[in-house]
Amino acid sequence: MDNNDKILVIDDELAPRESIRMVLKDHYHVLTASGAGEGLDIMSRDPVDLVVMDIKMPKMDGITALQQIKSTHPDTEVILLTAYASLETARDAIRFGAFDYLIKPFDKDDVIMIVEKGLEKRRTNAGLRLERDTLLDKTSRLESQINEARSNIMNYYDGTVKALIYTIDAKDHYTFNHSNRVAELASAMAKVIGVPQTTIKGLEHAASIHDIGKIGIDESILRKKGRLSPEEYEEVKNHPAIGARIVKSVPFLEDAVPVILYHHERFDGNGYPEGFRSTQIPLTARIVLVADAIDAMMSDRPYRKALPIEQVMSELKNNSGTQFDPVITSLVLNGDVPLQ
Ligand SMILES: [Fe+2]
Repeated sequence: MDNNDKILVIDDELAPRESIRMVLKDHYHVLTASGAGEGLDIMSRDPVDLVVMDIKMPKMDGITALQQIKSTHPDTEVILLTAYASLETARDAIRFGAFDYLIKPFDKDDVIMIVEKGLEKRRTNAGLRLERDTLLDKTSRLESQINEARSNIMNYYDGTVKALIYTIDAKDHYTFNHSNRVAELASAMAKVIGVPQTTIKGLEHAASIHDIGKIGIDESILRKKGRLSPEEYEEVKNHPAIGARIVKSVPFLEDAVPVILYHHERFDGNGYPEGFRSTQIPLTARIVLVADAIDAMMSDRPYRKALPIEQVMSELKNNSGTQFDPVITSLVLNGDVPLQ
C-alpha cells in the first residue's frame, strides 16, 4: 500500500461516508464529499487516484457522476456503493467504467481489498501510459532522425550528381544548363504518364547525367563545329557505354545505368548501342531521348541557332514512331507537357 494514494469518498449519508473514511484513513490519504457535485469540484482542483461513491444520491446519482468522472479523469478508478445488489445497477456501473462495486453493509476487509485492487489497476495503467508515452517520444525522435538522415542523404546524392554534371561541363560547355533542362522536362513527362514519385527523383538524376560518358570522348570531337567524320561519329557512339561503366559503381545511381546506356536507342530499332526497339528500350530511356532531343533543338549549338518552337513541334511529329516513342511525343504535341 502506498500512503500517497489519494482516495475520495462521496456519499450523501454521513454514516457510511465516515465508516469508509475510518477504514481507509490509516492506509491512504482520504478526502470526503457529501454529494457528487462537491466531489467533482474537489477533483477538478485536486485529482485523486480512486473514488468510492454511493450510487443513490440526491441531485446527481452515482452512475451520472461516474460518467462525468470517466470523461474528465479517465485514469481515476471508481468503486460504487450500492445498498441493493441489483444486477442492473451493477451492470450499469461496470458498463460506464466503474472498477467494481461494494454492497452495503460492507465488510471492512472487502473495502480494503477492492480499494487496493483498484489502486493496483490505476498504477498499472499509469505505468503502461508512461511506457507508451516514452515509446511514442522515442518513436517521434527516431522519425525525425530518420528524416534528417534521409534529407542529408538526398543532399549528398544531389551534390554527387551536380559534381558529375560539372565534370561533363568542364569538357562540353553546352552541358550544364542542358542537363538541368532535360531533367526538368523528363520529370514533367514522367509525372503526366504516372511514373511513381519514388522513381521520378532517380529519373531526374539519370536525365541530368545521361551524357556523363562524354568525358571519355575526345574534346576536339565534342567541340567540333562542322560535321563529324564517320570515324568521329563512331567514337561519339561509345559515350552511352562509357557513361554506364562510370555510374555502375555508384549504388544510388543504379537506376540511371539503363537510361545512360540506352538514351540513343531509337523507337524503330535504328539507334545505338544495341539497336533495341519499342518497349525493349526502358521507358525512362525513351523519355530522356525525347527530352534530350527537344532541349537540343531549342538550344543554340556551335553549328546552328535554336530552332523556333513550331519547327521543334513539327520535328517531333515527323519523327514520332520512328525516332521517338509516339506516346511520349504526344505529351508535348497535345500540350500536356508545355515547352517554355
Ligand atoms: Fe547522349
